Amino acid sequence: MIPVILSGGSGSRLWPLSRKLYPKQFLALVGEQTLFQQTLQRLTFDGMQAPMVVCNREHRFIVNEQLAAINVAPQAILLEPFGRNTAPAVALAALQVLAEGRDDLLLVLPADHVIGDRDALRQTLEIARAAAEEGEMVLFGIPAARPETGFGYIRSAEAGEGDLLIPGALRVMQFVEKPDLATAEAFVKDGGYFWNSGMFLFRASRYLEELRAYEPDIYDTCVLTLERSKANGGALTIDDSTFACCPDNSIDYAVMEKTSRACMVPLDAGWSDVGCWSSLWDVHDKDCDGNVFKGDVLSEGSFNCYVHGSSKLVTLLGVDDLVVVDTKDAVMIAHKDRVQEVKKMVGTLDAQG
Ligand code: GDD
Ligand code: MG
Repeated sequence: MIPVILSGGSGSRLWPLSRKLYPKQFLALVGEQTLFQQTLQRLTFDGMQAPMVVCNREHRFIVNEQLAAINVAPQAILLEPFGRNTAPAVALAALQVLAEGRDDLLLVLPADHVIGDRDALRQTLEIARAAAEEGEMVLFGIPAARPETGFGYIRSAEAGEGDLLIPGALRVMQFVEKPDLATAEAFVKDGGYFWNSGMFLFRASRYLEELRAYEPDIYDTCVLTLERSKANGGALTIDDSTFACCPDNSIDYAVMEKTSRACMVPLDAGWSDVGCWSSLWDVHDKDCDGNVFKGDVLSEGSFNCYVHGSSKLVTLLGVDDLVVVDTKDAVMIAHKDRVQEVKKMVGTLDAQG
């Protein structure tokens, strides 16, 4: 099994800490190591091969540095000139594996998630491996607790239904990527839906077959792109001009919403996608007032706040549910319920140049 670490995202909802040149996966947001390093370090299971990393060319030095710091030697680093989202990123990795005359199982992992319980992850991966070896595309489902619109939603067959050979792997009946709020509310109310964790396990050839069936343009462009890409000092530089013609789409829309070959294994391993500031507050231990403070903070009568300080003292007086992030060149203060909108704010800033 080869871990394929997707680390080409820009993490704009964690602005102002996460920046295009230094996105959240390369920051130590929870604990001493960065999210990218933690993703690799939790994978020391039997049968796990050296990882492949797919990232942006601009991040190659950060990636090399962070791999060396934890003594991980990757089997390949694929350097994209720009992002075309996750469907092409995974296709390039799968094609590269086949080009080497192999057809391994690929464990596709976002580089920016937190998983607290490694043992539970290992056990879940064993079930998933058995299903993927039968030719399944395996998804990992988290019981949908809130109507989040930033996730994919999975409805699976009940245990015992859905004729899969592997106990614990359930046939996917419906996959809906990023539904609108009303639909997400209906799914949560229904009670039978899971969030897609964003991790996948399948054989390289199985993914490519499905991609070819549903998104032949992405498949064809990736085949051509890989043929024209060049090995360059231990990394593979993805060819710009061919990849520029590749449609931009995520694996979720391109394949998972359409395939009939998917199954889901429920994952109960303390998963969080640390997608926004409030989810960082969620995953940390709180003080007795429900606050999480990093850096030098003085607080009186303030509750359930998240503060990420840098060099300055931050003082809070009589405020609740705030996120305060102080960096060298920007300070952000937001209500904890509105932090999803940080992405929009970053868009406005980008537009203003
Ligand atoms: N190499 C590469 N190239 N990586 C990318 C690219 C790209 O163009 N775009 C995104 N990634 C990486 C991100 O860095 C992240 O690690 C992972 O792929 C997933 O991308 P996101 O952009 O974070 O996806 P999402 O959070 O909107 O949605 C996905 O994850 C959710 C769970 O967190 C989907 O799979 C949802 O269905 C899922 O619920
Ligand atoms: Mg994400």
